[in-house]
Amino acid sequence: MRVLGISGSLRAGSYNRQLLELAGKLLPEGVEFEVYDRLADIPPYREDAVDAPEVVADLRNRVSASDAVLIATPEYNGSIPGQLKNALDWASRPFPDNSFKGRPTAVIGASVGLYGAIWSQAELRKVLGLMGAAVLDEELPVGQADQAFGADGGLSDTDGEAALSALVSKLVDAVRAPTAP
Ligand SMILES: Cc1cc2nc3c(=O)[nH]c(=O)nc-3n(C[C@H](O)[C@H](O)[C@H](O)COP(=O)(O)O)c2cc1C
Repeated sequence: MRVLGISGSLRAGSYNRQLLELAGKLLPEGVEFEVYDRLADIPPYREDAVDAPEVVADLRNRVSASDAVLIATPEYNGSIPGQLKNALDWASRPFPDNSFKGRPTAVIGASVGLYGAIWSQAELRKVLGLMGAAVLDEELPVGQADQAFGADGGLSDTDGEAALSALVSKLVDAVRAPTAP
């Protein structure tokens, strides 16, 4: 089984990237984890583009080659970062038969605010649901992210790390035993 991880932040030292990498380590043994690394290269979406740029075709291929997708999103002004939304707009086409269709997908998020990107996680689940992904009805808010990680890259809050572990297990379960759409 292969899980594709996408961080919605382009920031060097991103807490969401850290959270995603931690989630990858908590996946059951034998599950391959790839972190998507080309978000910054995705051009602005154009509906009249005849052929998708190579980087977009690559994104769609990587999503299609995965059994599940895990996205870590920051909150920007109560919503998801524009570059993440732009990439998902590309990935949503052609609609409805896009690379996310029916694919188990989970959302997690970190922010330096108190609420742990809870609004952006809800917005992201909405976007993914409209795209046709099989979105897990779970969230993993990491608030005060600037203080949330220990030197080993784990979460200082052991309950939070257990919740992250449970969430990635549910994502794996969703691949092994898909529910009817
Ligand atoms: C444009 C912008 C808007 C932001 N809006 C919010 C917000 O609405 N809520 C929040 O909790 N944090 C907000 N933040 C702070 C982010 O939580 C913080 O920058 C966080 O570290 C981003 O995630 P990253 O570490 O993965 O880059 C905002 C940051 C930026 C740059």
